[in-house]
Amino acid sequence: MKPIAESCLRNQQPIAEVLSGVLNNVKAVLELGSGTGQHGVYLAQRFPHLTWQPSDLKECLPGMRQWWQDAALGNLCEPIELDVTSENWPTTLTYDAIFTANTLHFVSWRIAEALLVGAANILPLDGILCIYGPFNENGQYTGEGNRQFDQWLKARDPESGIKEIERVEDLLANFGLALKSRHQMPANNLMLVFQ
Ligand SMILES: C[S@@+](CC[C@H](N)C(=O)[O-])C[C@H]1O[C@@H](n2cnc3c(N)ncnc32)[C@H](O)[C@@H]1O
Repeated sequence: MKPIAESCLRNQQPIAEVLSGVLNNVKAVLELGSGTGQHGVYLAQRFPHLTWQPSDLKECLPGMRQWWQDAALGNLCEPIELDVTSENWPTTLTYDAIFTANTLHFVSWRIAEALLVGAANILPLDGILCIYGPFNENGQYTGEGNRQFDQWLKARDPESGIKEIERVEDLLANFGLALKSRHQMPANNLMLVFQ
């Protein structure tokens, strides 16, 4: 049985709507923290002009491979192991965009920082970084649902939790990536597009 993330089923269409205006000229996307790999399957189908590379920690590979095999899409690459804190970021393809969904809040700032810095380091000039998930702004939760979600995250891992948009922006600015657009998504999530 393939692993199923119900949240992917709910948010994949709104994510695709936003990305359709962002990935027009993109040829290859590296996805970080792909989880089940469902986003890659849906988005590779939806955007046949681009090559999609899913990745995650080693323990996620068996589930992702099932989705990849069943989908049998020519533009969806076999999922690869990528721990964002490692030195082993893929270098075989040039990725002109990086996509990640629901990862930053799930991990500590140390891991989130490694993800952001690693992404910034492998993107070419004009590369695009799309980050989907919940964010805090001006030190505030953007809704009661996010406050409760953050409590749940921290009970599971005290170092994890919803990150501040400003902190993400400031870090990426050091690498020449600026927030080009932000999109309000269902359930108080955002899609942030940096370039
Ligand atoms: C909440 S899940 C999101 C999965 C998927 N992107 C989605 O939207 O359903 C967070 C993901 O971050 C991944 N992750 C955690 N630490 C990581 C790391 N150091 N490197 C890469 N991925 C990591 C987890 O394995 C998990 O798949």
